[in-house]
Amino acid sequence: MERPVRKVVFPAAGLGTRFLPATKVLPKEMLVLVDRPIIQYGVEEAVQSGIDNVIFVTSRGKGIMEDHFDVAYELESVLERRGKTTLLEDLRSSRVNVASVRQAEPLGLGHAVAVAQPLVGDEPFAVVLPDDVIDATPPALRQMIDVFERVRGPVIAVERVPMEDVSSYGVVAIDHSELGPGVHRIVDLVEKPPRDKAPSNLAIIGRYILTPDIFPALQETASDRTGEIQLTNGMRRLLESRPLYACEIKGVRHDAGNKIGFLKATAYFALKRPEFADAFRRYLDALDKPVGTTTG
Ligand code: UTP
Repeated sequence: MERPVRKVVFPAAGLGTRFLPATKVLPKEMLVLVDRPIIQYGVEEAVQSGIDNVIFVTSRGKGIMEDHFDVAYELESVLERRGKTTLLEDLRSSRVNVASVRQAEPLGLGHAVAVAQPLVGDEPFAVVLPDDVIDATPPALRQMIDVFERVRGPVIAVERVPMEDVSSYGVVAIDHSELGPGVHRIVDLVEKPPRDKAPSNLAIIGRYILTPDIFPALQETASDRTGEIQLTNGMRRLLESRPLYACEIKGVRHDAGNKIGFLKATAYFALKRPEFADAFRRYLDALDKPVGTTTG
């Protein structure tokens, strides 16, 4: 019998090279979508899914992420005195227990998960890649925990992507058993396959519910050509000893870890905000008009 999922690991030690020069000093996870840093979307998703023990895997210069989730007494008391209750509630809604661990070198996502082992201990846990921002009801992690509680084994979030994009993702092969809508048993996993070698178009996206036996599996996983330990390869190893499951997430995902994905996510979340959605839409519509046309 597996224990409940109480902890979530956020691997956030990468270099964010696709976002240079913005990420020379500022962590990619702290870039802002509308009015909150990218990582806050993932943390709020975890909290709304019932998990509020957060483990950040960080690297040099990323301490600002922990500060962001710390209690800001002075700021809160000023807001309280000024009667800014909405701002205050917003600030307090993302309070979580944060622990962090350093990944000294960016040796891959599998390695980043492995360095969290002492903080995770011997229990199942979630992994959230903060770049993948998912708008879903129920939240993506909640959908996965519900599946985990049923199948009692690791659950990997997947999404159907166009075949020409599969080589950017880990891809799963599934069998034909129906375990519920969008839930499949995995028979193989391949990291970034060329299009003609991809076993399906079911791409792994940045959410996982893992069990602690992933840690020995990662230890037995060799680095790839680029010197990184891939989580996909660790899970492939785990598949030799237990069943793994894929869960198609019902929701809208943005990859905010690259510039165009970040811009799309900004527009998407701005248009969801009642306080300025109309004004922003009018502005975007006006951009279609010939240059020189003025907008209000
Ligand atoms: P990415 O490859 O998308 O992030 O890894 P990156 O390496 O920061 O970005 P680019 O490619 O250089 O632009 C997915 C997630 O895994 C984390 C990253 O921080 C990101 O959240 N990661 C990756 C680590 O924590 N450690 C690693 O060694 C590699």
